[in-house]
Amino acid sequence: MTESVLLGMPSRKPQRVASRVGKSYFVRTYGCQMNEHDSERISGLLESDGMVPASAPESADVVILNTCTIRENADMKLYGYLGSLKAVKDEHPGMQILVGGCMAQRDREAILERAGWVDVVFGTHNTHRVLDLLDHSEEWGPVAEVWDETTSVEDMPSMLPANRDSDHSAWVTITIGCNNSCTFCIVPMVRGREISRRPSDIINEVKQLAGEGVVEVTLLGQNVNSYGRDLDLNGRSPIFADLLRRVGEVEGIRRIRYTSPHPKDIKEDVMYAMAESAAVCEQLHFPLQSGSDSILAAMHRGYNGERFLEKLEMARRIIPDLAVSTDIIVGFPGETEQDFQDTLDVVAAARFDSAFTFQYSPRPGTPAATMPGHIEKAVIQERFERLVALQNAITFEKNMEQVGKTEEVLVEGPSKKNPLVATARTRGNRPVHVDGKFDAGRFMSVEIIRAAPHNLFGVVV
Ligand code: SAH
Ligand code: SF4
Ligand code: F3S
Repeated sequence: MTESVLLGMPSRKPQRVASRVGKSYFVRTYGCQMNEHDSERISGLLESDGMVPASAPESADVVILNTCTIRENADMKLYGYLGSLKAVKDEHPGMQILVGGCMAQRDREAILERAGWVDVVFGTHNTHRVLDLLDHSEEWGPVAEVWDETTSVEDMPSMLPANRDSDHSAWVTITIGCNNSCTFCIVPMVRGREISRRPSDIINEVKQLAGEGVVEVTLLGQNVNSYGRDLDLNGRSPIFADLLRRVGEVEGIRRIRYTSPHPKDIKEDVMYAMAESAAVCEQLHFPLQSGSDSILAAMHRGYNGERFLEKLEMARRIIPDLAVSTDIIVGFPGETEQDFQDTLDVVAAARFDSAFTFQYSPRPGTPAATMPGHIEKAVIQERFERLVALQNAITFEKNMEQVGKTEEVLVEGPSKKNPLVATARTRGNRPVHVDGKFDAGRFMSVEIIRAAPHNLFGVVV
């Protein structure tokens, strides 16, 4: 069930007839893979109503912004873009503007107050209601609808048909929400408690995707290791390691990835399931966040630097050629120069293949936002640059270690910079450029002949 926070909630039509045939839509997505995937669902719903994609917001009848609020600059980007859309709407009076996703969930009707030209605000669990909300706003004016604590698995966006961006690669949601309490993070506030999908629903979706020609799936959850804890299947809770193995048995799926595991919860069983399922790629996203024990404790992460490195060693022992990426936050409240040095030490010891590095951004309503010891912007910037320099050097070294190897790659399509060069990915998720035109979705064997700081170059063998 969902809650209507503004105006009366329109009753759901029992059987909907396509009512927007020929109208066009444009979806702009901010944030993470969960949002990318939700946007595919939104596009699927709009197309089921007869709509067609527009190439730009200026020419669309319906513009949807699927928002993120993980850091402050995500909020600023959204309001900046909404401002520029006002001028577009002034020229096209019939245009409808919808704001959904995490920031919509957080700011709710405040968005309608701040940007009076917005027609619909919908929360992270209200994606399935987009068509009804469009109808409602046409008839009654602006509306905001977000979730409350009674939301159930049936309200999950992942139960909807999707209009996927890629023919060969697909996201598959396994859980939504998060039950952790990392003190810097707003996700639990906007995505709610963790809800797992039933294994049978997940497997059926993967089988259906395979039937449509998909060869690669990425399983999505904020903490995949806690998958299934909320489910009761004949007195037993399903576990992630078993799910991985079952997905690995689906015929036609040749690559399986997942994001993200939580270092505190990852155990050998998941690593063995990865090692023993041929389709599961030798790739792990393993978010460190900080290398300082006291900062990790203040972040509520449930591990220290040493424990993190032990888990990483365990993972690499079971899967020797594992490619590992991470997330790191610089400038958490109270971070001293020594704490930051500890982060550099763990990064040097861990030798990640790549890292997403972030400057700490206080999120209103999270415990860290009111902790003492907020760090000056210039100090954060300077530490950030040192961390990026260290990781870039490690990434380059790791890339150079690939030269001379023969790798199976999956073609993504022409490179963004040069249509005569294809971009492909190794099983370790490293981008490889290959001269020539190759169809997206094709597997090839390439020899890595050269390494650049952030990608590789290969030739077909
Ligand atoms: N559930 C995922 C993280 C999702 S958010 C996980 O636990 O791995 C993606 C990343 O954004 C986080 O890993 C963290 O590094 C970063 N992040 C989250 N909140 C942030 C904040 N307030 N400031 C800066 N970075 C943040
Ligand atoms: Fe946020 Fe932590 Fe949950 Fe990841 S595990 S979504 S960082 S609260
Ligand atoms: Fe993702 Fe941003 Fe929401 S990172 S979960 S879209 S706050």
